[in-house]
Amino acid sequence: MQTESMKILIIGSGGREHALAWKIRQSPLVKQVFCAPGNGGIGQDVISVALATHDEIVAFCKKEAIDLVVVGPEIPLVEGLADILAEKNIPVFGPSAKAAQLEGSKGFTKDICRKYNIPTAGYKRFIDADPVATGIKRSFETKYGPSANALAYVKEKGAPIVIKADGLAAGKGVTVAMTEKEASDAVNEIMGGRYGNAGASVVIEDFLEGEEVSFFALTDGREAIEFGSAQDHKRAYDGDKGPNTGGMGTYSPAPIMSDALRRQVMDEIIHPTVRAMAKEGMPYKGVLFAGLMITKSGPKLIEYNVRFGDPETQSLMMRLDSDIVPALLACVHGDLDKVEIRFKSQAALCVVMAAKGYPGDYKKGSVIKGLDAAAGFANVKVFHAGTQLKDGNMTAIGGRALGVTVLADTIQAAQQLAYNAVDAIDWPEGFCRRDIGSKAIREMETL
Ligand code: AMP
Ligand code: GLY
Repeated sequence: MQTESMKILIIGSGGREHALAWKIRQSPLVKQVFCAPGNGGIGQDVISVALATHDEIVAFCKKEAIDLVVVGPEIPLVEGLADILAEKNIPVFGPSAKAAQLEGSKGFTKDICRKYNIPTAGYKRFIDADPVATGIKRSFETKYGPSANALAYVKEKGAPIVIKADGLAAGKGVTVAMTEKEASDAVNEIMGGRYGNAGASVVIEDFLEGEEVSFFALTDGREAIEFGSAQDHKRAYDGDKGPNTGGMGTYSPAPIMSDALRRQVMDEIIHPTVRAMAKEGMPYKGVLFAGLMITKSGPKLIEYNVRFGDPETQSLMMRLDSDIVPALLACVHGDLDKVEIRFKSQAALCVVMAAKGYPGDYKKGSVIKGLDAAAGFANVKVFHAGTQLKDGNMTAIGGRALGVTVLADTIQAAQQLAYNAVDAIDWPEGFCRRDIGSKAIREMETL
């Protein structure tokens, strides 16, 4: 690939996409980067374009002679955007719709794990209606039972127990039930149609205890290489209190991921999954984001995501030393064995700033000031998510608006620097957690 020759299109509008855009833009191979639809801040780094449908994306790629499309979110992947682009010979980073079932159907993933001996929580799948009528294929050896059996199963297993809607439910389809009543309420809610088709079938899993880690690997369908680890903070408020969110902050690497543990995850979880998907005739290409629970009896898979994490990517991109573009291309072209990835040994940390009220109702349109002051700190990058430039003002239009992301020698220093930058931002209608990274700092002290 010639220097400064490539044109890349990124699909999505979040902090994850801004972080990818920022990193891709730094590649010496790249001439131009577009992001569709982008957000209020991505324009500092790349060109935003409005593309409303898959057809418009294809037409844009043809018109601009796009060399690579990088799909940020899971929904277009589950809907088959990668298949549509591949059919038109447009190189795309991201799995096919079939392979994207690893995120699109929790039951599918559990069945793969069972069939190929990949460590995960014990489970059973249940379905209310006729699987054929609901469009859900019976896969592998699973035997479904109706919802009455789901309730009986909850009774038999007792709490704590975990109830999951099978399909994509915008991060809301999971109930970690501490009582039997919570569990049966969750079964009734899911099967009662709360999540539409996503709840047409239910997975009931054993409760896992341990520490959660986000682990990333790139794969070309055959080879897989590690692509860093991070830890997210899913609850809205300090001390892991309050409602679940899309993620309020991250740090990378996850201190718990020793070399031995990383190898174990690759050997027992990632490689077997990549081999399994190839064997099932749906080779997985792209980034495999494993949500892991590090339990007393080793790492177990909680779930797969078929895309980069948000806000994990903000921290990962800050640490990534290598050019990302050859790695993305290798996943598409199947020569990942020739790629080497280097991360800086420093710590990255991302503090998400969200509109007050998030993840519930929040006011839209408040003005965010002080962004230049925050950007003035060395080793700080403010990634945008739910923002829009309006009459020269940066306004907040989404719940999570900013990801203040930093790089420093230690997690302590990163935390200090991140909050110094956060304090330079003047946004009275926003809030953030003040304890991103604190758990890691406590753990490092006891290691
Ligand atoms: P998910 O939507 O699959 O990411 O699940 C949301 C959260 O539920 C996870 O991040 C975990 O904290 C928790 N969770 C999911 N499955 C289990 C499990 N089997 N045991 C304990 N916690 C779980
Ligand atoms: N941060 C969790 C996710 O991207 O799903």
